[in-house]
Amino acid sequence: MQPTPPLTPFPIETSASSASALMAADMRQVDAVIQHRLASDVVMINQIAHYIISAGGKRIRPMLVLLFSNALGYSGPERFELAATVEFIHTATLLHDDVVDESALRRGRQTANALFGNAASVLVGDFVYSRAFQMMVSVNRMRVLEVLADATNVIAEGEVLQLMNMHDPDLSVDDYLRVIRFKTAKLFEASARIGAVLAEVSPEVEECCADYGRSLGTAFQLIDDLLDYEGATEQLGKNVGDDLREGKPTLPLLHAMERGTAAERELIRHAIEHGEVARLPEIVEIVRHTGAITATREAARAEADKASKALRVLPASAYREALLEFCFRSVDRSA
Ligand code: IPE
Ligand code: IPE
Ligand code: MG
Ligand code: MG
Repeated sequence: MQPTPPLTPFPIETSASSASALMAADMRQVDAVIQHRLASDVVMINQIAHYIISAGGKRIRPMLVLLFSNALGYSGPERFELAATVEFIHTATLLHDDVVDESALRRGRQTANALFGNAASVLVGDFVYSRAFQMMVSVNRMRVLEVLADATNVIAEGEVLQLMNMHDPDLSVDDYLRVIRFKTAKLFEASARIGAVLAEVSPEVEECCADYGRSLGTAFQLIDDLLDYEGATEQLGKNVGDDLREGKPTLPLLHAMERGTAAERELIRHAIEHGEVARLPEIVEIVRHTGAITATREAARAEADKASKALRVLPASAYREALLEFCFRSVDRSA
C-alpha cells in the first residue's frame, strides 16, 4: 500500500458545501441518467417515480461513487450509470420505508404512500429496485453486481431486523447498531466501494474505501435518529417524532433510559412499547437533559473520525478533501 499522506485540516468555510460545487457538472450527468432511466410506459410508474425523484434529496450516495472514482483516477462514463443506480436503490428503500414507517412527509412533500397509497408505493418501489438491477447489469462487471446485490440484500435484512425490534425498550446498543449498519451504512459502503471497483484498485485500498462508507453511513444514521428528537420538521422535510410514534428504540432513547431517573425510564419504556407521541415534548426534554443527545452526537463523531482516517489511503486531491468534509458535515448537519 502507498505511504499515508497527512490530511489537510478541515476547511473553515462550511456554509456552502464545496463537494456540491466540485461535483456540479458530474451530478448533472447523473441527473440526466436518472431522468432517462426512470422512463416507463406505465403512467402511474412515471408519475410516482418522478414525484419522489423530483423532490431532490441530498444525493449523497451517488456523490460517494463519483468522489471515490474521481479520487482514484477513474473517469469512464460507467460512473454516472452506477451513481444513478445507487440513488435508485436508495429511492426504492425510501418508498418502501415510508410505507413501513407510515410516514407522511418526505423531502418537504407528502410521501408517495400518503398521496398514492401503500400498494402503489410498494409496487413502484419494486420497479425502481429492478430498474437499478437492469442498470448495474448494463455496466457488465461481475464485481459491481456482487457488491450491489449484497448491499440490497443486507438493506432488506436491516429493515426486517428493525421491524422485529419495534416496541422493544430492552434492545441492546449492539443490536441497534447492527440495524443501522445494515439498513443505512451498507449502501454508503457499497457506493464508496463501487468507486474503488471502477478504478480497479488493490483489495486493500478497496477495503479502506468501504470502511469509510460504512463509518460515514453509521454516523449519518445516528444523526438521523438524533434529529428525529432534536431537529425541525421544516428543515428536515420529514416529520420529527416519527420514530417514537413507531416505537423505534433508537440510540437517543436507549441512552436516555440508561441515564434517567426511574420515572423517566418508565415514561420512555411505555412510549416505546405503545408507540405513543402524546408525551413527545417531555421525552425530548428527558433526552436532552440526560445528555443522550450529546452522547448520540459523540457516537456519530467517533464514527465520522474513523471514516476520515480511512481516507488516508487516497492520494491528496480536491475529491479527498470533499470526502473529508462529508465526515464533519454528517455530524453537524440539521437537514
Ligand atoms: C434518508 O436518507 C434515509 C436515511 C438513511 C436516514 P437521506 O437523508 O440521504 O435522504 P435524502 O435522499 O437526502 O432525501
Ligand atoms: C432509514 O431509516 C431508512 C432506510 C435506510 C431505508 P429511517 O426510517 O430512520 O429513515 P427516515 O427517517 O424515514 O428517512
Ligand atoms: Mg423511515
Ligand atoms: Mg429517521
